[in-house]
Amino acid sequence: MIKTAILGLGNVGKGVASVLTGNRAEIARKVPGGLELGYILDIRDFPDSPFADKVTHDYEEILNDPEVKVICETMGGKEPAFTFSRRALEKGISVCTSNKELVEARGRELLEIAREHNCSYLFEASVGGGIPLIAPLLNCLEQERISSIFGILNGTTNYILTKMDRFGAGYEEVLKEAQELGYAERNPEADVEGYDTGRKIAILSSLVSGKTVRFEDTYTEGITKICPADFVYAEEHHYCIKLLGISSRMEDESFNVLTAPYLVPQGHPLYAVSDVFNGIFIHGNMVDDLMFYGRGAGTLPTGSAVVADMIQAALSIGKTIPIRWDKERVDLKPHSELVSTFFVRTDLSEQEAVRKAFDGKIADDWSLPAFPDEYAFLTGPMSEAEFAALAEKLKFKTRIRVLC
Ligand SMILES: NC(=O)c1ccc[n+]([C@@H]2O[C@H](COP(=O)([O-])OP(=O)(O)OC[C@H]3O[C@@H](n4cnc5c(N)ncnc54)[C@H](OP(=O)(O)O)[C@@H]3O)[C@@H](O)[C@H]2O)c1
Repeated sequence: MIKTAILGLGNVGKGVASVLTGNRAEIARKVPGGLELGYILDIRDFPDSPFADKVTHDYEEILNDPEVKVICETMGGKEPAFTFSRRALEKGISVCTSNKELVEARGRELLEIAREHNCSYLFEASVGGGIPLIAPLLNCLEQERISSIFGILNGTTNYILTKMDRFGAGYEEVLKEAQELGYAERNPEADVEGYDTGRKIAILSSLVSGKTVRFEDTYTEGITKICPADFVYAEEHHYCIKLLGISSRMEDESFNVLTAPYLVPQGHPLYAVSDVFNGIFIHGNMVDDLMFYGRGAGTLPTGSAVVADMIQAALSIGKTIPIRWDKERVDLKPHSELVSTFFVRTDLSEQEAVRKAFDGKIADDWSLPAFPDEYAFLTGPMSEAEFAALAEKLKFKTRIRVLC
């Protein structure tokens, strides 16, 4: 039996507690004697919770119990989560987390500390919630040269975009509904501005490259400017709109990493990933295309992914589960060099100026009778820099990249 602790009894922490207790027998089949929930650290008390007797407000009590070998950090944020994780690892206690903000910013340091103290730092739940993604990437695809990894990594924005698409509703209206349903936080910035997806694709890029990709070095664009008319055009031309995190490896080992809304064609598997679900596409040079699909968030799915890591950590006491993530920065291609096809909407009055500026670069006229005052078109493939130069003096209502 291995004694464990939960740091932070919020949404994910409660899920971890439920999985540890509800699936006790399943876990015991894997870990001899099972995983015992010894402590829950939180600021608050939870008198009505079945776990009330486990709650402590004193982290030292957990650190000073020599029987505690594995903890999960489900507090979120950078501090005190970093300090708590570091202190546990320095005592040889493995840490499993869902905290993508901390993993993206300081995961590499914590992996190094874990290595120095013969324990593990694991973060399956930090990307894709309940979807097993990091473990397959590290354990089943080590032999592959991964050339791209991209997908829908944020359930909140996928829910918003799905509702806007299905009901023709405006962004603000759907965001409010998502907040009422608890799918979006009161401060939705991290989700809707693409920061959450950006952090996740940065983590995946670091794991794929074995080097460091920092979120702040990547291009990030959110969904706040997407409007109902965009969905009408998209649907007429057999596309939907999704917020994608994209990481591509170039021949010269540099990477293109970005987060932005994309038009996804009907035939693509990501087209069907709706509501709060996530879908992640991986291309390996030998295995070809792989897709991972499931609940990217939620109490039980995310708790389940954390417990999966806790089991692995418990089976490796005294050893480190290796994860390669070097300090050296990945060579990131400048965003201006990224080549895309763009969907553009503009006022009809701009049509002549647009045609002149984009002479020979317009691949398709997407104008619709439903919008007689607009001119819409699809460009041919061009770099971000070229698009920006051609568009410099023009006023666009919408500019969305297209997934090819
Ligand atoms: N929710 C999801 O579905 C999901 C999915 C994947 C990943 N994540 C990530 O998982 C982490 C946790 O998310 P969550 O949704 O569970 O957050 P949450 O509901 O806010 O839970 C965090 C818990 O930690 C407690 N806490 C905060 N600071 C603490 C401290 N210094 N000492 C002890 N306890 C402390 C909080 O107490 P108070 O409430 O009193 O502040 C709260 O109970 C975040 O990094 C999040 O991004 C969440």
